[in-house]
Amino acid sequence: MSEVLAKPAVLILLGPPGAGKGTQARMLEEDFGLVQLSTGDLLRAAVATATEAGKQAKAVMEAGQLVSDSIVLAILKDRMAAPDVAKGVILDGFPRTDGQAAALDALLGAAGQSVTAAISLQVDDEAMIGRVSGRYTCAGCGEGYHDEFKQPAQAGVCNKCGGTAMKRRADDNAETVRERLKAYHAQTAPLIAYYEGKGVLHRIDAMKQIAQIRSALGVIVSRVLA
Ligand code: AP5
Repeated sequence: MSEVLAKPAVLILLGPPGAGKGTQARMLEEDFGLVQLSTGDLLRAAVATATEAGKQAKAVMEAGQLVSDSIVLAILKDRMAAPDVAKGVILDGFPRTDGQAAALDALLGAAGQSVTAAISLQVDDEAMIGRVSGRYTCAGCGEGYHDEFKQPAQAGVCNKCGGTAMKRRADDNAETVRERLKAYHAQTAPLIAYYEGKGVLHRIDAMKQIAQIRSALGVIVSRVLA
């Protein structure tokens, strides 16, 4: 008897800086056993280890601009080839341009797959400046926190790993966030219509509280994975 194997889910979180892509992607990992794949995190790791791609990306990221498609695609393809991706992925911060969306379709199409769902986190730009500039993460495990909206249970101690070293990103200042918002509206927001045209778009009000968004996302993801 032949068995039809389920194809791994490919979920995309679309949204401007601060919309909560990283926060919600980590929760979706916990709730659904999917793997978060953040091109921002991959690029920051490349910068930190001073790879050739990282050296080219550093100044671009600090200016709030988008890194070239060729660098991002090379990094993403490497990561997509890792075995854990077979569990299904949440793409956080990718695709961000028409070219990246087309390349993703080609990559998935070659494996007989397609995008399962693209979820647009809808927010007000001005509120994003406060969200991003108050953000910090645990240097040990990457758990995200916020000065006002999400503090650890014990001040200065990570809820997840108990680490006490916290860090802030070089591009998390109001001026750079404005540049990142401009780049989002010019190059990434048009992808909302692209995925709507493919019939895989879902919209979420991401101005609500983190837990409310988690539960709204859970309803959508449960439905598309069923
Ligand atoms: P990237 O790392 O992807 O950053 P971003 O898109 O600017 O998004 P952020 O990480 O700032 O925000 P988020 O939506 O994840 O929000 P978070 O959950 O942290 O990209 C950085 C740079 O890398 C780019 O500018 C570009 O240069 C380059 N890059 C990356 N991918 C690329 C690509 N594909 N192509 C080209 N270049 C690329 O939440 C923010 C804060 O708000 C947190 O403190 C959180 O606790 C809090 N928060 C979250 N949700 C809520 C809520 N509902 N209410 C209150 N607070 C909340």
